Amino acid sequence: MKRFLPALLALLSLGSARADEGMWLPSLISQRIRDMRAKGFRLTAEDIYSINKASMKDAVVLFDGGCTGEVVSPEGLLLTNHHCGYDAIQSHSSVENDYLTHGFWARSRTEELPNKRLNVKFLVRMEEVTDRLAAGETAEEIIGRAEAEGTGYKAQIEQMYYGNQQFLFLYEQFDDVRLVAAPPSSIGKFGGDTDNWIWPRHTGDFSVFRIYAGPDNKPAAYSPDNVPYKPKKHFAISTKGVGEGDFTMIYGFPGNTQQYIVSDVVRYIAETSDPMKIAIRSGRLDIISAAQESDPALRIHYAAKHASIANAWKKWQGEVLGIERLGTYAKKLESERRFIEATGDAGVLEALRTEFARALPYYYTRELLSETLLTLAYNYTDEEKADPIFAKRRSVERDLYRLAFAEYAARNTQLPMIPEVATGIEQSGSPEAYADHIFSLAVADPKNKELAALKKGIGALTAHIVDELGTKSLRNFNSARMNELYARYVEGLRRWAAAEKRAGAMFPDANLTLRVAYGKVAGYEYADGEYHKPQTTLDGIIAKDNPAIYDYDIPQALRDLHASKAYGRWAVEIDGRRTVPVCFLATNHTTGGNSGSPILNGRGELVGINFDRTWRSTMSDIEFDPTICRNIAVDIRYVLMVIDRIGGASYLIDEMPLK
Ligand code: ARG
Ligand code: ASP
Repeated sequence: MKRFLPALLALLSLGSARADEGMWLPSLISQRIRDMRAKGFRLTAEDIYSINKASMKDAVVLFDGGCTGEVVSPEGLLLTNHHCGYDAIQSHSSVENDYLTHGFWARSRTEELPNKRLNVKFLVRMEEVTDRLAAGETAEEIIGRAEAEGTGYKAQIEQMYYGNQQFLFLYEQFDDVRLVAAPPSSIGKFGGDTDNWIWPRHTGDFSVFRIYAGPDNKPAAYSPDNVPYKPKKHFAISTKGVGEGDFTMIYGFPGNTQQYIVSDVVRYIAETSDPMKIAIRSGRLDIISAAQESDPALRIHYAAKHASIANAWKKWQGEVLGIERLGTYAKKLESERRFIEATGDAGVLEALRTEFARALPYYYTRELLSETLLTLAYNYTDEEKADPIFAKRRSVERDLYRLAFAEYAARNTQLPMIPEVATGIEQSGSPEAYADHIFSLAVADPKNKELAALKKGIGALTAHIVDELGTKSLRNFNSARMNELYARYVEGLRRWAAAEKRAGAMFPDANLTLRVAYGKVAGYEYADGEYHKPQTTLDGIIAKDNPAIYDYDIPQALRDLHASKAYGRWAVEIDGRRTVPVCFLATNHTTGGNSGSPILNGRGELVGINFDRTWRSTMSDIEFDPTICRNIAVDIRYVLMVIDRIGGASYLIDEMPLK
C-alpha cells in the first residue's frame, strides 16, 4: 500500500457509504446498530433479525418475485403496493367487472380472490457459506440440505461483493396468496405515468392480500380448505405519523445496484445504453398511448404494458441527468487513479477496461435485441385472436412490429445483422415492409417456416452473445470475465477501505436479497431556493383533480370527503390546516424491488409503504447523493383512511394492531 490522501478520499465516491447510504445485510446488522441507534432507532439488532426468536424479518416477504410486502395482522394480512398487485388485480378485471378502475373490497374471507401464479417468500435464515464451498461442498448439496429442513423451503446461494462472499438464503414459500382489497386506480395509480418518479406525489399506491396456509399453518397449494396464515410476527401500525428529521428504516428486497462499476461502464450507461433504450421506448410509448387514448378497451388492454415500458424509460432519463449532474464518470476516473496509487494494482483496472471494450459490442447488441426484436411475440394464440379486442389491436401491434425492426436495423452498429433479417429487409424493400410481412405471418400462420427461421436466427445470435459474454445475466453490464475481475477489484477496494478504517462502510450491491436501509424523513433542495417539503396532503390531490385528465380524475367519494372534511380519526393538523397526510419523503437508500417495503419508525412500527424514488435521485443505483436522493412512501394513515372511508372496509383495520 502506498500513500493515502484521507481528506480528498473522503470526498470521492468509491462506494463507501456516506450518511444514509447503504443497503445492509440483516444478519450483519449488529455492525450498524450503534449508528442506527444514534440516529433514533430504539430496538436491537435481534429485533431486526434473529434465528432464535420472532423478529422483524418474519413480517417481511418477497412479493411475486420482484416486490416487497409486509404482514400487518395475526391473520396473515399483507400490504404491498398497488403497482405490485397490479397483475393480480388486472387478472380479475374485465370491462364488466373492472376492479382495476373501480377498486375491489372483499366483504368476507370467502370473497378473497386466489391467484394462480403469485407467491410470497419469508426469509427463514441467511448464512455465509463461503467456507463450506471452499471446503468442497457443492452449491447443490448445500441447497438440498437446507430445503430438506421444512415444507415449502426454497434455498438459494447468492454472491456478495462479486463472489468474494457467498450466502445461503433459505426461504419459506407460500403459494396461496389471495387478493383482499385494492383502491380504484384513480387512487392507487393516481397521477399515473405522469407523476411516476415525481415529487410532489399523491399516489395511494397500496393493495391488500392475505397469505393462506394449510390447516397445519405450513405452505400449501391453493385449496378452499386452506386457512389464513398465522405469522410468527406482524408489524404494529403507528397512526401518529412521522415528521421531518424522524428516523425511518426500510426493510425489503432491493433488486439491483451498481455501486462498484468502473468508469468506462458509467460512460457507456450515460452515453450509449440509456439513450438508446430511452429513444426506442419513446417510439413504443407513442404508439401505445395513441391507441389507449382512442379506445377505453385498448386503454385497459395496454395498461400494464404501458406502465412497465414507461417506468424504466422515465427512470433512465433521470439517471442520465443525475450521472451528469454529479459528474460520476469523472469521479470514478479519479477514484480509480487513487485506487492504483493506494494499492499499486493498476493491472486489474487495465484488464477491466480491456475486457469491457471486448464485451461492449455483444452487450450493446443484447440490449438492443431486448428492446426491439425480443419484445415481439411472433405468435398470437387462438384465444387472443377470438377476443373481439384483437381487431382493434391489429394496427397497434403492426406498428410495434414496424418500430422494432426499423430500430433494430438502424441501431445495429456493432455486430453483423441477423442473416434472416438482413435478407428479409432486402427482399421486402424496407424494415417496415418486412415487419408488415412478419406481423401478418405471426397472425395468420404462426407455424410458418420463414417465421420459424427468423426466430431461430434471433435465438442463434442471442446464444452467440451469451457465449461471448459467458453469462446470461444482463444485470451488471458485464461478462463472466468482468465478474472475475470485479471480484479482485472490489476485494482491493475493501482492503484499501479496511486500511483506512472505513471497511464497514462498504455494502454489497443489491441483488434481490433482504436488506435494511435507514435514514430519516427529509425534504430536499434540488436547485437554489427550490426546497421540496417532505409531506403531501389530500389538499394536493384536490388541487390536481381534473375530470378531463385520466391520470388526475379522482373518485367522487374522495371529492365529497374533502368537501365534508369528515376525516374522522384520520384527520391531522398540518400548517394550520385540517387535512389527511398522503405521501412523504425520506433519505433511505432504495431501488427497484423495494416497492411495497415497510417503512418503519424508531420503534419498528409501520408508518408507510415505500413505492418510489424522486426522478432526480434515480442515479442512486450508481451513485447515491445524500443531499437529494429520496425515497417516496405512502403514509399509512392515508392507506387506512382509504380502506375505511373509500372502501368501507374498516373490518380490515380491526385486524391490524394500531398504535
Ligand atoms: N416508479 C415506481 C417503480 O419503479 C413505480 C412504478 C409503477 N407506477 C407507474 N405509474 N408506472 O416501480
Ligand atoms: N418503484 C420501484 C419498485 O417498484 C422502487 C424504486 O425504484 O425506487 O420497486
